[in-house]
Amino acid sequence: MQREFWEQRWQDNQTGFHLDQVNPYLRDYWSALNADNNAHIFVPLCGKSLDLLWFVQQGYRVTAIECSEIAVKAFFAEQGIDYALSEHGPFRVYQSAGLRIYQGDYFKLEAPMLEDITQVYDRAALVAMPQPMQQAYAAKMIDLFPASVSMLLVALEYDQSLMAGPPFSLIQDDITALYKQHFTIERLHQQDIIQQQPRFRARGLDSMIESVYKLTRP
Ligand SMILES: C[S@@+](CC[C@H](N)C(=O)[O-])C[C@H]1O[C@@H](n2cnc3c(N)ncnc32)[C@H](O)[C@@H]1O
Repeated sequence: MQREFWEQRWQDNQTGFHLDQVNPYLRDYWSALNADNNAHIFVPLCGKSLDLLWFVQQGYRVTAIECSEIAVKAFFAEQGIDYALSEHGPFRVYQSAGLRIYQGDYFKLEAPMLEDITQVYDRAALVAMPQPMQQAYAAKMIDLFPASVSMLLVALEYDQSLMAGPPFSLIQDDITALYKQHFTIERLHQQDIIQQQPRFRARGLDSMIESVYKLTRP
C-alpha cells in the first residue's frame, strides 16, 4: 500500500488497526528478546500506538517511523506529551524524553539515523504491505540493520482469497522467505482471533491466525 493510501486512512479516521491498550503480545513476549537496560528499540510504521509509551515506560530509548502527520500529532496530543520538532532531510522529527519519531517515508530512512538500535518491534507494519512491497520492506530492514538486532514480529494469516488486504496474510513460510538469510525465525505463539474480530468476520473470514515470531541473528 502506498503511503498516500495510509495518509488518507488517517484523514478519514479509518484506523481499526489501532488498539486502545498496549498490545498484549508485547507484554507477554517481549522478554523473549532479552533486551537489556540500554536497549534502543525501532518501531516501524508506528501509527499512534500505545506500545511506544510502554517501551518508554520500561526505560528503553525508542525510535519510530510513521508517514502520517495526523497519527504522530495524535499520539503526542492524546498522551499529553510535549515534544520538540526539528527537520532531518525529508523527515520531520518529533522528540520527547526517550522517544524520537521520524515522520516520513520508511523507505527513505538511512542506517545512520538508526544507529545503535538493538531490537525491532513490528506489529501491523509488514502486514500493512501487499506482497511486492513486503519484499522491499524486508530488504530495507536488512539494509538498515546489518549488525546484530533481534525482532518481535506480529503477523496475521487468513484466506487471502476471501478478503483483500490490508492487513495482508503472511504464513510462516512467507516470513522465512523474507528473512531466513539474515535471521533465525521462531514462532512463539499463535491464536485464532476471528471471534474477537467482528469487522473481519463481516468481510467473510471464519479464521484469522495471529502469530508472534522472534527473529534473531544467527
Ligand atoms: C496497520 S497501521 C499499524 C500502526 C501501528 N504499528 C499499530 O500497531 O497500531 C500501518 C501504519 O503504517 C503507516 N505507513 C504506511 N506506509 C508507510 C511508509 N511507507 N512509511 C511510514 N509509515 C507508513 C501508516 O500510516 C499506518 O499508521
